[in-house]
Amino acid sequence: MTTNFLTKDELLKNNRSLWNSWTKINAKSTFYDLEGFKSNKNSLKNIEIKEMGSVHGKTLLHLQCHFGLDTLSWANKGAKVTGVDFSDEGIKLAKELSDQLNIPAHFICSDIFELPMLLEQKFDIVYTSYGVLTWLHNLNTWGKTIAHFLKPGGTFYIIEFHPFINMLNSEWTEFSEPYFYKGNSICSVESGSYADTNEKFIHSAYEWPHSMSEIICSLRQAGLLIEYLNEFPYSSFNCFPNLVEYGPDQYVLKDKQDSLPLMFSIKATFIPELLKI
Ligand SMILES: C[S@@+](CC[C@H](N)C(=O)[O-])C[C@H]1O[C@@H](n2cnc3c(N)ncnc32)[C@H](O)[C@@H]1O
Repeated sequence: MTTNFLTKDELLKNNRSLWNSWTKINAKSTFYDLEGFKSNKNSLKNIEIKEMGSVHGKTLLHLQCHFGLDTLSWANKGAKVTGVDFSDEGIKLAKELSDQLNIPAHFICSDIFELPMLLEQKFDIVYTSYGVLTWLHNLNTWGKTIAHFLKPGGTFYIIEFHPFINMLNSEWTEFSEPYFYKGNSICSVESGSYADTNEKFIHSAYEWPHSMSEIICSLRQAGLLIEYLNEFPYSSFNCFPNLVEYGPDQYVLKDKQDSLPLMFSIKATFIPELLKI
């Protein structure tokens, strides 16, 4: 269902409340396996570890870091990390984990679009991953925010679910939704969390599906030179209906094997001169 009845602030407030509740559910879930993380200190998948390369000694800004597991994982690989999320519950837990595990990290509670008013530092890397873009109403501002925080020549990396999957119905059995939303939000009623569907919890969610061209153009317009766009026929997580295991950390749609795009990654370099072309 598309809706534009609420103001952007009201939509943001609703989504922050949802993510505060989801943080509490997710932190207890086997999906996030917090106890396992406390011993192995890694939540990253091989795909982003390989594509990002060495982060040792680099400053890294993690946008939409949830409760910080990936942020702390990059810190454990030698990066000097800053994680940002608008969920105060997420940031509170991220700070607790940083202290408890003795992994140095800086965490900031902020809407990413407000961040330039709170943080002055420039970074070698801006990183964001898995389930971030549909929560953002404006990708042009997103691109500018990434560029704002990168040093000239700095790297942006995203690994994310493919916009293709936004066209599937909630059971992932047929195409029922448009690909193009033209900036409108969609409202859904979330039951439980993607990390624990059995949890008794109901909350509304407002999301903004974005097409691949919106994603690419918002980065290019902000002065980012795309090094590559990769598409993957699997999800790293078993968090959608009707998925079956295909390989380690690879889940594909049942009966479709590896014929559909479920994730993509982009690596790009900030070249300020591109803004003049
Ligand atoms: C699916 S999670 C990302 C999880 C991530 N892959 C990780 O490292 O765990 C999406 C995150 O986006 C955050 N978020 C949504 N809208 C935001 C906004 N406007 N500003 C900052 N964070 C936001 C939510 O609080 C949530 O933690």
